[in-house]
Amino acid sequence: MSKILVTGGLGYIGSHTVVELINAGFEPVIVDDLSNSQPKILDQITKITGKRPVFHELDLSDENAVKNLATAEPDIAGVIHFAAFKAVGESVQQPLKYYRNNIYSLINLLESYYGKPINFVFSSSCTVYGQPDVLPVTEQAPIKPAQSPYGNTKQIAEEILFDTIAAGSSYKVIALRYFNPVGAHETALIGELPIGVPQNLVPFITQTAIGKREKLTVFGDDYNTKDGSCVRDYIHVVDLAKAHVAALHLMKKNEFKGYDVFNIGTGNGNTVLEIIKAFEEVTGEKLNYTIGPRRAGDVEQVWGNVSKAEEKLHWKAELGIDAMMSSAWAWEKYIAQNPVQ
Ligand code: NAD
Ligand code: WQD
Repeated sequence: MSKILVTGGLGYIGSHTVVELINAGFEPVIVDDLSNSQPKILDQITKITGKRPVFHELDLSDENAVKNLATAEPDIAGVIHFAAFKAVGESVQQPLKYYRNNIYSLINLLESYYGKPINFVFSSSCTVYGQPDVLPVTEQAPIKPAQSPYGNTKQIAEEILFDTIAAGSSYKVIALRYFNPVGAHETALIGELPIGVPQNLVPFITQTAIGKREKLTVFGDDYNTKDGSCVRDYIHVVDLAKAHVAALHLMKKNEFKGYDVFNIGTGNGNTVLEIIKAFEEVTGEKLNYTIGPRRAGDVEQVWGNVSKAEEKLHWKAELGIDAMMSSAWAWEKYIAQNPVQ
């Protein structure tokens, strides 16, 4: 069974990916420092899969800790590198915190396993495109100047990986540019666990519906879109998790060499108001919301051309907005009854 090191494996996307790796017959080994996750998620993964992955609690930005990890776990076939800080606003306030964690952690991993034939999947983001000139955006679209230190860490990380491969390393690398991951596992045993006030739309919707927040503010309805609110490509986290398994399968093939990058979305755009409507329809909950001013730094609209992933990864998103909303709601209700924090 191939061992796959999953950094950030107790986080939102990481925990769902660990489940899909186990379902696909891989042996995930989780590394996490619990800076944005809870140890109980390991129990939840065990409940879902019947298997308890090995877990190393350590900070990947600590060079010595990662060297020790490479000694303790020498025989890994792949790495899926989720571990990073991801709060865009905080990255503007504390850029060094973001550069230190997101860049050092990547370099420490690459250096510690250097020389081994490892298939490496990196969590990138559609944020690298900024506001694309052409929609749906393809992987060939120009990378726009980053809007935040967080976004810049994704651009720099892609360059670090590209240059490492260009220098002839033994790694193979796939960078997955995620669009907007939402939703939760169908068991409602794992999902997104925002610390404090959620910055992202769907957790804010579910927390408002359950009464943790008074109301949702829609950030602008005067954009040049069909109803004036911003458009995004929302993707179910379980579909996203499966894309990582597909990336590992592709890299196993001899004909795959070097480095490649894929958009991971549904290929469809939805407005904020459409998401609210879908949530209300699917759950039967009436959402308290108001229209407010635009949020600084928001792009007007972005959705992905995902044909490259369909052709080469043989992967396609299967779950729609209804499943995204109903699973996010089931998870919100579950944690209201069973706090994991
Ligand atoms: P998350 O915060 O839920 O998960 C990240 C995990 O990494 C957490 O469990 C955290 O404790 C851990 N971690 C952070 N720094 C670490 C360190 N130095 N050492 C060990 N563990 C560390 O975030 P997520 O939403 O699951 O995102 C996973 C990845 O996907 C991130 O790289 C993020 O930038 C990227 N991404 C996320 C989104 C999104 O909207 N969620 C979109 C595009 C890209
Ligand atoms: C979605 C839409 C908001 C909250 C961010 C990061 C990006 C990526 C994913 C990692 C936007 C609107 C939101 C609210 C609202 N992360 N909104 N009221 O901004 O597309 O992307 O997360 O790489 O880098 O920037 O996602 O969920 O914050 O917003 O109206 O209370 O919902 O304006 O149009 P975003 P989001």
